[in-house]
Amino acid sequence: MKPTVFKDEAPLSLEYVPTRLPHREDQIAFLAHLFRPLLEKPGSTSQRVLITGLVGTGKTVIAQRFGLGIVKAAKERKIALRYVHVNCRACKGSLFAILRIVIGELGERFPKRGFSSKELLQEIIHVLDKKNLTLILTLDELEALFAADASAIYALTRIQEDRATAPARLSLICILRDPKYLEILDRSTISTLQQNFVKMEPYASRELSTILRDRVSLAFKEGAVQDDTIGLAADLASSSGDARYAIELLWRSGKYADSEESKEVTAEHVRKAAGAVNTTLRDEYLASLSIDEKLMMLALSRCLEESNLAYASIDELEKAYKLACEEYAYPAKKHTQFWKYLKLLSATGLISTKISAKDKGRTTLIGLTSTPALAMKKYMESILESFTSARRHH
Ligand SMILES: Nc1ncnc2c1ncn2[C@@H]1O[C@H](COP(=O)(O)OP(=O)(O)OP(=O)(O)O)[C@@H](O)[C@H]1O
Ligand SMILES: [Mg+2]
Repeated sequence: MKPTVFKDEAPLSLEYVPTRLPHREDQIAFLAHLFRPLLEKPGSTSQRVLITGLVGTGKTVIAQRFGLGIVKAAKERKIALRYVHVNCRACKGSLFAILRIVIGELGERFPKRGFSSKELLQEIIHVLDKKNLTLILTLDELEALFAADASAIYALTRIQEDRATAPARLSLICILRDPKYLEILDRSTISTLQQNFVKMEPYASRELSTILRDRVSLAFKEGAVQDDTIGLAADLASSSGDARYAIELLWRSGKYADSEESKEVTAEHVRKAAGAVNTTLRDEYLASLSIDEKLMMLALSRCLEESNLAYASIDELEKAYKLACEEYAYPAKKHTQFWKYLKLLSATGLISTKISAKDKGRTTLIGLTSTPALAMKKYMESILESFTSARRHH
């Protein structure tokens, strides 16, 4: 066995939900306060909250922590309450896919007959009534739903109002990076969503230090990480205020220390790790894209790398996408589908789009947000390569 600075890497993983969330106590207390009526008078009211904030500011983790807490409190009071956390991007912005997960989490079999998502929503309320259950549904990365199907949000926020006299069953926690997406909704939906608003500010270096210190004591051997090392990781991450980046930086620094068989994680390991970690080129984020989206990202990075310009036109991109599809022997999508995927990608912040009114007529321009085109191209080629080789095995 090789020596290692880690005692347990799990607390540094993405799924880990820490018991203590320093610098987010107020936000969690606010959530607990809002949802208290669900415990005190179940069925009396439903709640809606909107959480916004930039990447890695703790939106997902505070919702999950709150969910665990309220479920425990409900159990102690013998109240039937469930917390379900759904990621809209992973559901490709489909209300149907989201509701399918909810049905599964409620322990119900999926209806055989072809239900529409509207009927499925009714069915869920019916199940909640039957079981006398209260459901808190968190819609994480809601921007994906805005891009694909904004009317879904309307349906979700209305379902409770349409049955004003019946017990309140469904509460919503909506998570959005950028509140600008709200603008496409009608005013009454906006105001119901904005009733309760939690804004998460990027973390300052000092705050990131506390967060990192907690993780260090859980994940690293005693004395393996000096305060100076933690301070540097926090400083480097404070330009984005992204706690996920800070934690990943620390984990990678540990890996560098291990590879040198060093007993300590030093500032030099952190600098090496910072050189290697790119804030957006992260597997969990990109691996979940569909093949079409990956091909589109590949096409876009190729266009931009070749032209060395900030944007590619939609025509150029579609051409490059078709070529990439050919290359990977994958059927290219038609123009309208292509558009849909483009909107999804732009909603998740990987690409940006803008309208140019140059020459005659308007054309859409597409750019990469923060990753160098060359790095994105190489990354996409490597994951698409593993996709094609997996297919060859079949
Ligand atoms: N206050 C905190 N204390 C401890 N860990 C934290 C805190 N805030 C965030 N984290 C950790 O930082 C990472 C990123 O947090 P989270 O996933 O909640 O960010 P997010 O706001 O949902 O980001 P995104 O917009 O990318 O989805 C997670 O590993 C989370 O556990
Ligand atoms: Mg999140």
